[in-house]
Parts: sequence; C-alpha cells; structure tokens
Amino acid sequence: MVNRVALVTGCGKRDGMGRAIATTLAASGAAVVVTDRQPAGVPNRRQEVLGITDEGWRGVDSLTDEITAAGGQAISVLGDVAAEADARRIVAAAAAWQGRLDILVNVAAAPQGLDRTDIEQVPVELFDLQIAVAVRGTFLMSRFAVPHMRASRWGRIINISSMAGVVAAPWSTAYSAAKAGVLGLTRALSADVAPWGITVNAIAPGMVATSRAILSMDPDIDYDAEIKARGSSLAVGRSGYPEDIAATVAYLASDGSAFMTGQTLQLDGGGRAAPFVARPPSALPPGEGEPCRRGQLRRFALITWAACCGPRGCWPPAGTPRPGRSAPASCAPPKTRRSARSSRSSRTWACAR
Ligand SMILES: NC(=O)c1ccc[n+]([C@@H]2O[C@H](COP(=O)([O-])OP(=O)(O)OC[C@H]3O[C@@H](n4cnc5c(N)ncnc54)[C@H](O)[C@@H]3O)[C@@H](O)[C@H]2O)c1
Repeated sequence: MVNRVALVTGCGKRDGMGRAIATTLAASGAAVVVTDRQPAGVPNRRQEVLGITDEGWRGVDSLTDEITAAGGQAISVLGDVAAEADARRIVAAAAAWQGRLDILVNVAAAPQGLDRTDIEQVPVELFDLQIAVAVRGTFLMSRFAVPHMRASRWGRIINISSMAGVVAAPWSTAYSAAKAGVLGLTRALSADVAPWGITVNAIAPGMVATSRAILSMDPDIDYDAEIKARGSSLAVGRSGYPEDIAATVAYLASDGSAFMTGQTLQLDGGGRAAPFVARPPSALPPGEGEPCRRGQLRRFALITWAACCGPRGCWPPAGTPRPGRSAPASCAPPKTRRSARSSRSSRTWACAR
C-alpha cells in the first residue's frame, strides 16, 4: 500500500477497531489520516454513567504518535461525520495532505446506550443519531471522497456495518436499521463507481472485544471473563478482536481485492452458522420463558443469554432444525420429558438436542 493515502473514521478509542485498522494499514505502507468526533472518542453510556476514562490515552494524538514511532505516516483531523461541513473538511484535509485519497474506511458509529432497549422505550432522538452517524456519515464521507478516487481511477471504500444489520439482534431496532442502511448504501455505491476502479465493500462483525461490547451498567463486571464467556459459545470458541477486522480491511484495501465489490463479509466467528436468534427472558411476555441453565445454552450469533422454555413453548421453537444435527431440536416440559442435566431443579425445562 505504499503511496496510498487512507482515511479512517472512529479512531479515538484505545480498544476500538479504528485504531487497529489505522495501525494495520500504516504497517502495510499506507499514509493514514485518523479521525474522530472527539480526540479520545465519544463515550458510550456505560463509560459515561460509570465515569470510565482511559488515563494516559490521548486518543487520535496517541494513535498518530504510535504510528509514526513505528515508522509509519499519520495525521489526525477531528470532526463529526454526520455533519456535512465537517465531513467535507475532513476529506479535504486528508486529500490535501499528500495530494491524493485512495482508501476510506467508515468505522464511526454513534455510542450505544439507551437505544438498546424495547422499541417502546427507545428515545426517538437516539434512533435519529444512530441513523445519522452510520448512514448519513457513511454517505457524506463517501460523497466527498469519491471525486478524489475517480480522479486517480482507483479507490477502496470499506464500511463497517454489523451482523445486527444482517440478522435480527434483540433490542436493536435503531442500530440494526442503521447498519442495514449501510449495507444498502454499500451495494448501490459499488455499482455506480465500479467503472473508475473503485470498489465498495462492507464488513459485518459479530461481537468484537471493544468498549462497545459490554452494555451492562454493573461497575464490577469482569470484562475479560465476560468476553471469554461470550466467545466460548461461538463456533471458533473465542470473541472477535479488532485485529480480526483490521486484517480483512487490509485485504479489501489492497490491489488483490479488485474483483470483489458490493459485498458484505460476515466476520462473526461462525455465529451465523447457528441459525437461532435468542432473546432475553425479560424481553418475553410475563410468564413466558425460563432462563436457560448452564449446559442448556446453545450457540448464538450475537449473544449468549437466552430464553429457553416456558408455559407457551420454547425459543427457538420446538422442531427448529439445527445445523449438523440429524434430530431436530425440541423442547418439552419437565413432566413429560426431562434431560439428565435439568433433574436438579423442578423449574428447569429441558431442551433436547
Ligand atoms: N464491538 C462490536 O462488538 C461491534 C460489532 C459489530 C459492529 N461494530 C461496529 O464496528 C465499528 C467500530 O466499533 P468499536 O467496537 O470499535 O466501537 P468504538 O465505540 O470504539 O468506535 C466507534 C467510534 O465512532 C466514533 N464516533 C461516534 N460518533 C461519531 C461522529 N458523529 N463522528 C465521528 N466519529 C464518531 C466514536 O467516538 C468511536 O471512537 C462501529 O461501526 C460499530 O458499530 C462493532
């Protein structure tokens, strides 16, 4: 990627994907422009409520220091990708730096928080914010970057969506809509700019170990244990890490990916191979659903908590086929059928495998 200039949004947080993507592209030889709305990133609700700060991390300034100390080239620009004037200014600054702009990686997303709830409780302004940063932000940054790429008849636009934009995720109406919007934009733009040698692709990560991964307001939560537990339910047996996403961005940004455009790469550790989408017991009507007990948890794409069986049936519904199993999954109340695992508690219903 020598002689390429890359612009990466959403780079402020130490543990975020933006940082990993920027350092990976820089290590591949690209000169990198890193940007965020605030130097150290916009705090999500957990960080805000619990007052979590990252001592010693100066955000995009630390990141540019890190890249230059490793022999790379980087500058930082601040701005709101959802604001037209800011997006125009960020792209112009990136293109003016070395007289070109070859790669745009749209990573920025609105901080998550009170939008992650049942639709009746989602503040309408938080729906607007999710759409503004993900969809409008990706549109604006791409709109201003495309002329520079057309001028050089080469370009790479890589949009970070989410598995929540591909399959249902519980309590994610705003986020899922925003991330699905990014996928539509990706496909449409890819067709329009392909004749200029510009490719446009999206990545849909499953759960990745960043500050965004933990929604809980519990101040004592053991982050590492939580990440490990969730990862263990995936086919690959671990959570995703920002470096996993960065490696795929590096491929999509390379010359070698020229024949791929308009695609969504699902980086979910195999989670989608298990076709069930679970929901928390508290999201079910009263009286429906018992929490799955240890040993009953199945593999789920995005989350590990699950509702199991209740008076009106089970989730996933009895009879739903599971991949790689000859017998369909089925659930039965304890009086008629009970697994050995559940015999300890009369409140535990059995989900046969
Ligand atoms: N972590 C996960 O489990 C996961 C899963 C699927 C998809 N994603 C997506 O990956 C991307 C990176 O997420 P992350 O986990 O690294 O979280 P992150 O919070 O570190 O990254 C998002 C960044 O966007 C920035 N941002 C927010 N509003 C902005 C605005 N208006 N203008 C400019 N920047 C703004 C934030 O400051 C933050 O630095 C996001 O698009 C996210 O939706 C994350």
